[in-house]
Amino acid sequence: MVTVVFGPGGNVGRHVAASLTSAGVPVRLVSRNPEQATLPARADVVRADLDQPETLPGALDGARNVFLYARPARIDDFVAAAESAGVRHVVLLSSAAVLNGDPMSSPIAAMHAVVESALKKSSLAWTFLRPGMFATNALAWWRDSIREEGVTRLPYPEARTAPVHEKDIAALAVTALTSPGHLGHSYLALGPESLSLRRQVRLIGEAVGRDITVEVTTVDQARAELSRTLPPIAVEGVLAGWQAGTTAPPQLDTTIEQVTGRPAHTFARWAHDHASDFR
Ligand SMILES: NC(=O)c1ccc[n+]([C@@H]2O[C@H](COP(=O)([O-])OP(=O)(O)OC[C@H]3O[C@@H](n4cnc5c(N)ncnc54)[C@H](OP(=O)(O)O)[C@@H]3O)[C@@H](O)[C@H]2O)c1
Repeated sequence: MVTVVFGPGGNVGRHVAASLTSAGVPVRLVSRNPEQATLPARADVVRADLDQPETLPGALDGARNVFLYARPARIDDFVAAAESAGVRHVVLLSSAAVLNGDPMSSPIAAMHAVVESALKKSSLAWTFLRPGMFATNALAWWRDSIREEGVTRLPYPEARTAPVHEKDIAALAVTALTSPGHLGHSYLALGPESLSLRRQVRLIGEAVGRDITVEVTTVDQARAELSRTLPPIAVEGVLAGWQAGTTAPPQLDTTIEQVTGRPAHTFARWAHDHASDFR
């Protein structure tokens, strides 16, 4: 029986795939684009698309466990294909956004809530990973301006967030996929420390070995800058998250340490891991 990893080139999926492989777990990597350079050589790789259900039987044949990204459009077809293939357990990369009031009032929360609901109604066992803001967002927000100008432009430099390292989300997934006791559990995955955006930029500068200037901009200027790398729905989510961080400290949580048995990575560590991305 094999563990199927969807999105093995994704920020989180690549660490799930690498950790399972190095632990000797039989793994099948499922991608819409298996030729991508980030997939390990000689892996069992299958081309499939969650939005094209006719591709799923080949991806799920012989699968016992699945690591899944949330794709709501054809989730009922995924559930049917997984049930028919005899899949036992699905670990879903969901979002902490599902916990904020009415999830259907926000598009990001809604897409994850729809997938969670379909899995809950199915005969499949599930584990939901509900991360807060990824540390990797800093790549989309700041990589280009840091590389090109040594600058970040922020409307709320003192806003505090608790970025979570993608390796910690992957570690939760791997723990849930490889050890007993996680069926029917939902795991919040928040970063371990509350940091201002200015401090996060400073930590990136220390990792890269250069001073990075923080310029204070208007919200509209920040919206225009973020729109270069993010879709509108994500831009508004980022601005709302930053604004919220000006009035209340971010929620912190110890679920990552409790479930995986080791402390969550700091943002300084994340910046160190990604220093070359900013050079
Ligand atoms: N960024 C945040 O702050 C944050 C916070 C909470 C939750 N989240 C959630 O986390 C997820 C993003 O995680 P990430 O950064 O690891 O993602 P990512 O790097 O953008 O990768 C997404 C992966 O999903 C796979 N995928 C996309 N569409 C697919 C399809 N139709 N069929 C099969 N696979 C498909 C892709 O695989 P292939 O290209 O190989 O097919 C890709 O590797 C989203 O659901 C997001 O809402 C993000």
